[in-house]
Amino acid sequence: MHIVLVGPGRIGAMLMPRLQQSGHNITVLSRREYGDFFNPVYDPGTACAAVSACDAIVLLAGLFELHANEERMGQANATGPIRVAENLHARFPKAQVIAFLDARIQRPADALPEAIRPYMASKRRLARWVHGAALAWGRCCGTRVNAIAPGPVLAPPNKAHSEKGGACLTPRPTIEDIGAALDFLLATPSVTGQILYVAAGQQLL
Ligand SMILES: NC(=O)c1ccc[n+]([C@@H]2O[C@H](COP(=O)([O-])OP(=O)(O)OC[C@H]3O[C@@H](n4cnc5c(N)ncnc54)[C@H](OP(=O)(O)O)[C@@H]3O)[C@@H](O)[C@H]2O)c1
Repeated sequence: MHIVLVGPGRIGAMLMPRLQQSGHNITVLSRREYGDFFNPVYDPGTACAAVSACDAIVLLAGLFELHANEERMGQANATGPIRVAENLHARFPKAQVIAFLDARIQRPADALPEAIRPYMASKRRLARWVHGAALAWGRCCGTRVNAIAPGPVLAPPNKAHSEKGGACLTPRPTIEDIGAALDFLLATPSVTGQILYVAAGQQLL
C-alpha cells in the first residue's frame, strides 16, 4: 500500500519503521512541502500534485497549545490538515483517510480545563469532518474515512505548553498500540466513519 503521512511529527516518525516492515511504501508530506497552516497564502495544492501514488492518507499534523485562540487552533488542527486531505482526495479519490484526533473530544467542553478548550474544539471540528467525509466520499467513491483518538502517548513537544497526561483506566497507550490501531483501520474494508479511541479509557473519565 502507498501511504502518505501528512505532518508526521513524532508519532509518525515512530510509526514509519513498522509500516515499512509491513511492506508499505511511505511518502512523507511535511510542513516544508505542504506549507505552514498559518501562512495567509497557505495552499497545499502543489505539494499534493507532486504525490505520485496514494492508497491511504494519514493526517497526523496538528498543534497543541494552551490558552490559544479558537481560530488559531482551528487553522492548525482542522482547516489546514483537511485542505491537504481534500487536495489528495481530488487526485486519489479512492485513497482512505485516517485522521488523528484526541480522546478528550468525548468530554463535554465544560468538563475540560479552560486552557485546552480551543484545542479540543478544533479536534471536535476535525471529528465532524471525518463523519461528513466518510458519508460524502463513501457515497461518491466508496472511500473510507476514519480516525484514531489517542490518549496521552507523548508529552506535548513545546515545554511552554506542557500538561500532565491525566488519569487513565489502564496503562497508557503506546506507539505500538497506535500502530496496531492504524494496521486495523488500514486493512479492514468495511470500517468507515469510525473513531478508534486508543486512550486507556481516558475518553470515559
Ligand atoms: N502525542 C500524543 O500523546 C497525542 C495525544 C493526543 C492526540 N495526538 C494527536 O496525534 C497527532 C500526532 O501527534 P504528535 O505528538 O506526533 O505531534 P507532533 O510531534 O507535535 O507533530 C505535529 C506535526 O504537525 C506539524 N505542524 C504543527 N504545526 C504546524 C503548522 N502551523 N503548519 C503546518 N504543520 C504543522 C508539525 O510540523 P513540524 O515537524 O514542521 O513542526 C509536525 O509534523 C497530532 O494530531 C496530535 O494532536 C497526540
